[in-house]
Amino acid sequence: MPAEFKNEAFINFSLPENTKAMETALARIASQKGGHYPLVIGGEKINTQSFITSANPSDFKEIIGTTASANVDLAEKAVQAALAAFADWQYVSPEERARYLFKAAAIMRRKKFEFSAWLVEEAGKNWAEADADTAEAIDFLEYYAQQMPKFAAGMTVVPSAGEQNECFYIPLGVGLIVPPWNFPLAILTGMTAAAIVTGNTVIMKPASTTPVIAAKLMELWEEVSLPPGVVNFLPGSGGAIGDYLVSHPKIRFINFTGSKEVGLRINKLAAGVSPGQKWIKRVVAEMGGKDAIIVDNEAELEDAANGIVNSAFGFQGQKCSACSRAIIVKDVYEEIVAKVTAKTKALTLGPASDPAVNLGPVIDKNAYDKILEYIEIGRKEGRIVAGGAKGAETGYFIEPTVIADVVPNARIAQEEIFGPVVALIKAEDFEQAIAIANDTEYGLTGAVYSQNRAKLEKARREFHVGNLYLNRKCTGALVGVHPFGGFNMSGTDSKAGGSDYLLLFLQAKSVAEKL
Ligand code: SER
Repeated sequence: MPAEFKNEAFINFSLPENTKAMETALARIASQKGGHYPLVIGGEKINTQSFITSANPSDFKEIIGTTASANVDLAEKAVQAALAAFADWQYVSPEERARYLFKAAAIMRRKKFEFSAWLVEEAGKNWAEADADTAEAIDFLEYYAQQMPKFAAGMTVVPSAGEQNECFYIPLGVGLIVPPWNFPLAILTGMTAAAIVTGNTVIMKPASTTPVIAAKLMELWEEVSLPPGVVNFLPGSGGAIGDYLVSHPKIRFINFTGSKEVGLRINKLAAGVSPGQKWIKRVVAEMGGKDAIIVDNEAELEDAANGIVNSAFGFQGQKCSACSRAIIVKDVYEEIVAKVTAKTKALTLGPASDPAVNLGPVIDKNAYDKILEYIEIGRKEGRIVAGGAKGAETGYFIEPTVIADVVPNARIAQEEIFGPVVALIKAEDFEQAIAIANDTEYGLTGAVYSQNRAKLEKARREFHVGNLYLNRKCTGALVGVHPFGGFNMSGTDSKAGGSDYLLLFLQAKSVAEKL
């Protein structure tokens, strides 16, 4: 077992051997495109009449693959399989459970380029973003595996004369994992790994736009010989099986990452008690953001402009951590607008598999239409200084778009767009910039660029976000280094990749024996 956790290094694609490795991986997976992936329930592969089709967002005529699509009967079967597996898995030693994760990490590392190639083709991530997603998945596996022994040791208790006392952690039961499509490997892997290393069994219901990469993760769980039923693979539409599973009396917890609307719906449904249900369900929800970068008048302006552009347009702005508002103190406003505009205009847009491309497509037709609609709203609410149009219509391409002179309560300054659109807002001074930044229902990430110590300290205290970054971009949290998750409508205040995350999937049992 590695003694110390270290984040997986990112691949340097300027080295020819790495470019070659990625090209080889893209070519290798090309021959697997169009493949079909069944459900996996209790180790059994099951096909269905209906299926989910995953298209390449860079070229939507190309089919990445299809998966079976579960109905209520199969969802019930998956719950029963997870329940049956829980009977044994809960008592497997934490060290043994952790070993499955270490092994999965090692295999994923060996197949790193291949996993990243699937992310390029199915999610539309450029090479570097795909590599970061795979690296984060490896990190989650190793980090949670290394954290597990700490919890296996239990809670410290005060000794009491004449008694032997202990307080140890036990798992919860069967969990439902509902991941997002934007980190379809990293977040799915992290949410699942944390739940199973703590002794729970789960149903993975992947996002319908990225089910193939989830099927690849399922293949990995099978490759490490995880006992059947510990992880069940259950693609299916939210409408067909989502509500059924969330309100199922035998589901003990739901681990969700996605939009505020879906998260709130799950939370509400999960609060109900179905006939035969013996517990209050636990909901872990990571939801959206309306993340801001503040640029003070005493900032390094070049750094700040780079930070805004990277945070706003990395993976086409489709990160809950993405910068969608830049709040700039008036003295440096025009200069920042000019720099951000120039840097944005220099970005390239095209198929994600092209190594020269900065931005690939957005994920699907719904996202495409919604983002274009917001650009039209933004055209009325501000001044478009870069982008503002569609790209080639062979995929879901939208130009990186900068909208200046937006007022703090404009729709594009308040609603989550989840695309390559950033609103630039002018503030009178730093004090007002903080107030504008906090004037949102979300509280996920934020950044401040300033060289003034007192202002940085003020931001530490008053900028109400779960992940605050000073003089750097607001995306790219590293597992173990930047425990990730936000306040208010951004979720249930959990910290993925944090040292207390595993507690969310455990409950404590105190035992006292009279001597
Ligand atoms: N963890 C990612 C980031 O920090 C977002 O999900 O960018």
